[in-house]
Amino acid sequence: MTTTATHTEMVLRPPTIADGAAIHALIKACPPLDLNSAYAYLLLCHHFADTCVVAERSGTIVGYVSGYVPPAQPDVFFIWQVAVHERGRGLGLGQGMLRHLLERPAASRSRYVETTVSPSNGPSRAMFQRLAASLGTALQETALFTTDMFGPGAAHEDETLLRIGPFSLD
Ligand SMILES: CC(C)(COP(=O)(O)OP(=O)(O)OC[C@H]1O[C@@H](n2cnc3c(N)ncnc32)[C@H](O)[C@@H]1OP(=O)(O)O)[C@@H](O)C(=O)NCCC(=O)NCCS
Repeated sequence: MTTTATHTEMVLRPPTIADGAAIHALIKACPPLDLNSAYAYLLLCHHFADTCVVAERSGTIVGYVSGYVPPAQPDVFFIWQVAVHERGRGLGLGQGMLRHLLERPAASRSRYVETTVSPSNGPSRAMFQRLAASLGTALQETALFTTDMFGPGAAHEDETLLRIGPFSLD
């Protein structure tokens, strides 16, 4: 992976608003992720490009991670959604995008990664366990969003908080 564009290489870069529609389409193609509105992805591209990444190959977006630093927790990098097109899975791209984000200046104060996972999402859980192992640190789980919080009839699984850290990439 590189941040220098050539024809066939995978390029990891901050998203721009020109990527919003393609990101929306990628998320739509990556169940069980919640599909947010196109407007929400445009906002993420516009205001949170420093903490989000797209993976692009031959002009096509094949991977995406959204994240942000919670305002009241400057030492936390929160990961919202991770998506790798099914044709690109199992090659380390998800892990590579996470590490890429943690090496950005915007993550220089990060000592913890937090995210939420649903109990049935084995690949997501495996990816974050792998991240904790590669950072040489612990992963703790606590309850956060429970099914009832999503509203009546939402049929949304629980979302358990994973907290990875402390770590330092210095
Ligand atoms: C989860 C997802 C992002 C993983 O992307 P990926 O590029 O295939 O993951 P990686 O290749 O970087 O794998 C990272 C680790 O997770 C493990 N892993 C990934 N997919 C797995 C699967 N289906 N089953 C078991 N382990 C899996 C890998 O084995 C690897 O660990 P290792 O290095 O010890 O072998 C991808 O499957 C996806 O987009 N799924 C649909 C959307 C989703 O569920 N996103 C996560 C919720 S935010």
